[in-house]
Amino acid sequence: RDPQPLRWVEAARSGGYALGGFNMHNDETTQALLQAAEKADAPIFMQVGRAIIPHMGVKKAFELTVRNARETDALYAIHLDHGTWDEVLEAVRLGFDSIMFDAAHLPFEENIALTRRVVELCHDYGIPVEAELGKIPDVGAPVEWASYYTDVHEAERFVAETGVDLLAISAGVVHGVIPGLEQEPLAVDLIDRIRAVVPVPLVLHGISGVPDAEIKEAVAHGVHKMNGDTDLRHAFRAGLEDAWSQGDLQLEEVLDAGRVRMIDATVAKFEAMGSAGTA
Ligand code: G3H
Ligand code: 13P
Ligand code: ZN
Ligand code: NA
Repeated sequence: RDPQPLRWVEAARSGGYALGGFNMHNDETTQALLQAAEKADAPIFMQVGRAIIPHMGVKKAFELTVRNARETDALYAIHLDHGTWDEVLEAVRLGFDSIMFDAAHLPFEENIALTRRVVELCHDYGIPVEAELGKIPDVGAPVEWASYYTDVHEAERFVAETGVDLLAISAGVVHGVIPGLEQEPLAVDLIDRIRAVVPVPLVLHGISGVPDAEIKEAVAHGVHKMNGDTDLRHAFRAGLEDAWSQGDLQLEEVLDAGRVRMIDATVAKFEAMGSAGTA
């Protein structure tokens, strides 16, 4: 475990690659992510996020991650993903290594004020803060792309006034995967314009459903952390379904098949982002 993942981000910036942040869901998926990080020799942000928190709470998810990590040699940090104010307080108390605070739904000035408080608190404990500007639509939401995009001038002001260490932007990517639908092409010109005025590394959420070629393009344009979940969950599920279709196997064998499939999918993401071999 590395309590200073910001150093990874700086290395990613100078090395021209992106780090992976992936969401854990239970023991087997947590093991899959950690084992994939170990196999790919890539640092990993183990993300406690919006699916797991309502299910078991921040504390249990944190403990589950730490317990599973003891069995691997992965280089990891525990990261709160899309946290609320209360979750940030809990995560700081528990000793998270990295925090994303998400108040992108609030009016801009309120988002700035609240994010600045989070940064002051977290920096007192040496914890880096990621925040998001612009909205990343969820699958199923009507998509008027331009209204979701991060505004370049707001991004500049937001980073200067809040002191965040990483900025997640909206540039044509959704949370989840749109079945049968072409992903909106990544707005690389927008990434460039934000990059030009924002001094901190950029983050792209929702990389499931984004082709590897676009992941590489985003890296080339200055994105140095990427969040993924759905593609890896789908890989896990495909492993379970495959195993079950072969007959009435032991549940342990079925879960194991999901884990193995998810490891491969995660290693492929590290390779696309370029962080394989950097741990
Ligand atoms: O970032 C928030 C959640 O991880 C949403 O991801 O679309 O895979 O449910 P999802
Ligand atoms: P995807 O499920 O689209 O990969 O998004 C995950 C995410 O952004 C978590 O913060
Ligand atoms: Zn996200
Ligand atoms: Na996505």
